[in-house]
This record gives sequence, C-alpha cells and structure tokens, in this order.
Amino acid sequence: MTNSAQIKYPYFEEATSAEVVNARMGSDIDERFREVMSVVVKHLHAAVKEIEPTHEEWLAAIKFLTAAGHKCTEWRQEFILLSDVLGVSMLVDAINHRRPSGATPNTILGPFYVANAPRYANGANICLDGKGEPMAVSGRVVDTDGEPVSGAQIEVWQTNDDGFYDVQQKGIQPDWNLRGMFNATKNGDYWFRSVKPRHYPIPADGPVGKMLGHLGRHPNRAAHMHFIVTASGYEPVITHIFTPDCEFLDQDTVFGVKQDLIAKFQREDPADAASPDRSGAARWKVEWNFTLARAKS
Ligand code: BEZ
Ligand code: FE
Repeated sequence: MTNSAQIKYPYFEEATSAEVVNARMGSDIDERFREVMSVVVKHLHAAVKEIEPTHEEWLAAIKFLTAAGHKCTEWRQEFILLSDVLGVSMLVDAINHRRPSGATPNTILGPFYVANAPRYANGANICLDGKGEPMAVSGRVVDTDGEPVSGAQIEVWQTNDDGFYDVQQKGIQPDWNLRGMFNATKNGDYWFRSVKPRHYPIPADGPVGKMLGHLGRHPNRAAHMHFIVTASGYEPVITHIFTPDCEFLDQDTVFGVKQDLIAKFQREDPADAASPDRSGAARWKVEWNFTLARAKS
C-alpha cells in the first residue's frame, strides 16, 4: 500500500483527474499560462467525462486534428477556420472589442486580407475584372459624437462575382481586384465604386469542410464586404457590411453577421446616375457611415 503522506503529487484517479494534472505545474511559471492551462485542462476533462468517448472516438478526434494540421500551409490555416466555424473567433473578437454604444462593431478579419492594397482617390472603381452588378458606396466616417473624422483611412476588400478573392485565383483575376484604400475628406466623406457582393463558401475541401458536412451545416458566408477603418486617436475598426437580401444572412458559417452591419442596398434610378464622381452608372447604391470610438489612453 502507498503511504499517501509521502507522495508529492497525487496519483491519477478518474474523479479528480483534472486536479491531478494541474497539480503537476511548477511553482515558477508564467501566471497567465498557469491560469489558461488549468482552465483548459479543467474543461477538457469535464468534456471527456460528459462524452465518455470510446477509444475509437478519441482516436477519430486525434485524426481530425492531425488532418487539420496537415492541411495547413503558408496560405491555408485550417485551425483558424475551425475556430471560425465554431464561433470562437467571433467570441474572442467580441471580448476584445467591447465598444461604446453607437460605435461600429468589430468582426473577424478573415484569411483573405492582404496588406498594402492600392491607394485610390475617392470615386475610383475597385472592380478590375468587370464582372458583377455595379454598385456605388458612399458615406462618412464620424466619431461617437457624430463629428467627422477627417482623413480616416478606409480599406476595403471583397470577392468577385464568382465568389473568389483575387488571391484565390492568381492569374485568373487581376491582382488587387476588388481591394482598395481610400482616405475620407476633411468632412469625413468617402465614396467609391465596386460590385454588389455575393455569398461564397469558405474553403471547404479540408477536414473542417468535412466536419461541417457531418454537422449538417453548409460552408457559406453571407454576402459581404470587408473594411478596416483607421484614424489617429481612434480605435481601429475591422468590420464587414452585409447585403440585406442574402439567403445566408441568418446562417453565416463564421457567425460574422450583426444586425448593425446589415446595409441598405438601393437600386439606383438611372435618372440619378448622372452624378459622375459618386455614382456613375451604378445600379446599386449603398450609403454607409462608420462610427469610430476614441482610443483608450
Ligand atoms: C472571409 O470572409 O473571407 C472568411 C472569413 C472566415 C473564414 C473564411 C473566410
Ligand atoms: Fe470575406
């Protein structure tokens, strides 16, 4: 028989398994890491106790994670995709971007952001492949008191009308298709042209796509455009706007849709299309204001 008074660390038992594992941590370790790992171990053991997996089931989980790892390349991050479709990316984003009421909500960046997009003057058309339904976007960048944010930088990117980003179709789409950077005027106004976004599937040819299939879920993102809006003295905003008529609005596969980010897309009367700098021949017109919160000092 063991003399329990002489052992430094408790032996493993089903009932106390998480505590047994956590008791092994050293005394001289990073406190945040201790906190994170003890919570992870506590909840992982609780999940295993609730699920009571067979060995085969546990091996299937390990094979899934192994396949996710093998799918990762410089251009493909299957674990981020997993975090996205399980709603964890949006949850981490929400925790880290609690904003005053009225400020534009944050959303996830997504894997298709590319830095250093072409810088355009207001009024430019970011659609370089000529596909899709023309659209004029205009609005104002303001602060939470409604005052204009002069010179704010607006970065935008979206898929083309076939539902692919330029970086997914190198050599098929022109480089930098549907990406651009604009600066708001001193009154906070911005405007540019593009095409109406459409829904598209996230990359679903890997283990995460397979998992979605087993869960009876589709891989589609609701039709959207991505934006990053920055200005000195304000919290940067990474966000989306969504079309109101998309069939996937209430079932975006990465949970990115928020009521406050659904824009109005109005069909423009061709008679109004005369305004050369703002609308040109656009058939869709979107007016969208961004509201920035002051940076925390
Ligand atoms: C996207 O919007 O581009 C996206 C976001 C999350 C996962 C995959 C794609
Ligand atoms: Fe996207």
